[in-house]
Formats: sequence, C-alpha cells, structure tokens
Amino acid sequence: MPCLPIAPLQPLRLDWLDDAGVEVAVLRLDLIDPLISGNKWFKLEPYWHLAQARGRSGLISLGGAYSNHLHALAAAGLRFGFETVGLLRGHPQVTPTVMDLQAFGMQLHWLGYAGYRQRHAPGFWDTWTEQYPQLYPVPEGGGGAPGAQGCAAIVAQARAQLGELGWDDYHGWWLACGTGTTLAGLVLAEAGAHPVYGAMAVPPGHGVVENVEALVGTGGYGLFEASRGGFAKVDEALKQFLAESEAASRVPWEPVYTAKALLALQAQVETGLFKRGTRIVFVHTGGLQGRRQALA
Ligand SMILES: Cc1ncc(COP(=O)(O)O)c(C=O)c1O
Repeated sequence: MPCLPIAPLQPLRLDWLDDAGVEVAVLRLDLIDPLISGNKWFKLEPYWHLAQARGRSGLISLGGAYSNHLHALAAAGLRFGFETVGLLRGHPQVTPTVMDLQAFGMQLHWLGYAGYRQRHAPGFWDTWTEQYPQLYPVPEGGGGAPGAQGCAAIVAQARAQLGELGWDDYHGWWLACGTGTTLAGLVLAEAGAHPVYGAMAVPPGHGVVENVEALVGTGGYGLFEASRGGFAKVDEALKQFLAESEAASRVPWEPVYTAKALLALQAQVETGLFKRGTRIVFVHTGGLQGRRQALA
C-alpha cells in the first residue's frame, strides 16, 4: 500500500461546544479516500508490510456483514492488487457491504455464529492458514500491536496542521472505540503528552479495556461508555442528534461509531469534564459506508 494520504483538520462548530467554551477540531480521516476510509488504512498498512516481508500475496481477516474493516480491506486489495479473503459472522446474507465485498473480489466464507465465536480460540487460524498459506492473517477490526502502531501516525497528521487553526497546542483527543486499537495507537504516539479519551461503541465486557491495557498499559487515556445499549443499536434520539449535528457542522456522521462518540462528548462537555478554553482533536474514524444500512 502506498504512503498514507493526509486527513484535513477542520474546526467543528456546534452550539453546545460554543456554550461551554470548548474548541474542537475534527481530523477528517473519512476524507482520506472514498473507499479505504477512516482509521482503516492506518491499521491495515502494517499488516500489508508484514505480509510482504513474509512473501505472502494477500490478507485474510474477519468481521460482520456490515464490517467497515472488511470493506476497506477488500477495497485495498482491489486497488493495490492483492488477494483478500473475508471470514464472516453468521449465515450468508446480502447487505450493501457484502455486495461490495464480492464486487471488490474478496473471497467470502460464512462461519455461522458459533463458528465465529471461536475466533479467539487457540488453533482457530490453523485451518485457514492451511487453506490459504499465501495469505497473512489480520485480527478482527485490524486489531493488535501492528494495527496500533499504524494508528500512531494519526497524531503527526493532526499536529502538522495545528498552525492552520491558529492553535499552538491541544489538550487531548476524543474518538470512538470498537477494539480500542486506534486509541492505543494515539496513546503510543502521545507517550503521555496529551490524554486520549475513547468513547466505547461496544458495551462493557466486549474487551476494549483489556485490549487497550494489553497494548499500552493503564496510563494516558480514559474510556467512556457510549454504546447506548448495544453495538450498532440506533435509537431515535441518536438519529435526531446525528441529523442535527450534520446540519449544524456540515460533517457527515454515521450512527455506529462517530455519532455515538460525538454524543458521548456532548455528555462529558455538559457535565464539565473540560474547562473553558480546552482544545480537543476529535478523530473522525470514517465508517460512512455503514450509513447505507445503519440508517435504513
Ligand atoms: C468507523 C469506525 N470508527 C471507529 C472504529 C473503532 O476502531 P478501533 O477498533 O480501533 O477501536 C471502527 C472499527 O474499527 C470503525 O469502523
């Protein structure tokens, strides 16, 4: 995969931020590419380098029928000419994402629900690496240490653009978490210089805390519940917040990760977590392909 495209850093203007005197700039990873969008390029690039170093001709990974991760992986495979295989949760179904995966040339295998639950079991990958010895395995969501190291590059992208906003510094980061890999990358790059706040789009017990701890230990970040009752659960209040935020900010949001993260930020701003004059970089982690189904 060639060099990472640069994401623009833009001021985010919303009434509730102005009222609290909190300044937010949004790092628009959703704009880096029409298909390999958001945090995905950052997470996938190190895996592609590992695959090349081992003489492999592609990547194999896993996810659900709406997976942003598989979508970006399949698009990257098509764009940069490497083979991709996707192991899917559940039974065969047709979603806009699945249709894209097929159109992008990804080979799909449906594991069922019980089969997918085995993904963390020892030996899970053995069958697949026997069947596809030419491919390098990528954990769910592009997680793990290589994915986090790839995401560390996000910090430099924002820092390089602070001057254009008239900022000489910032006080912290805010972003959505699914596995916590992206947050871990920011924590690595910051090395304690600024705190990184994660809004968990998955409910408690889904491993974010453990994943982040395994990658970076316990310091330099804070995690907030943001799932609103379940991963990908979309309620009316969220839909309305998304529509209003989109109209006011002219930034596109999706309900599964980014709008939940923004709503969780609003809750913390309103409870006074940040004093007046605080400057936050919000990472727009992409996922807009998922709007087709999540808002349907
Ligand atoms: C759009 C979007 N935002 C945020 C995340 C969460 O990223 P991470 O799994 O690195 O916490 C994901 C999932 O990978 C995602 O698809």
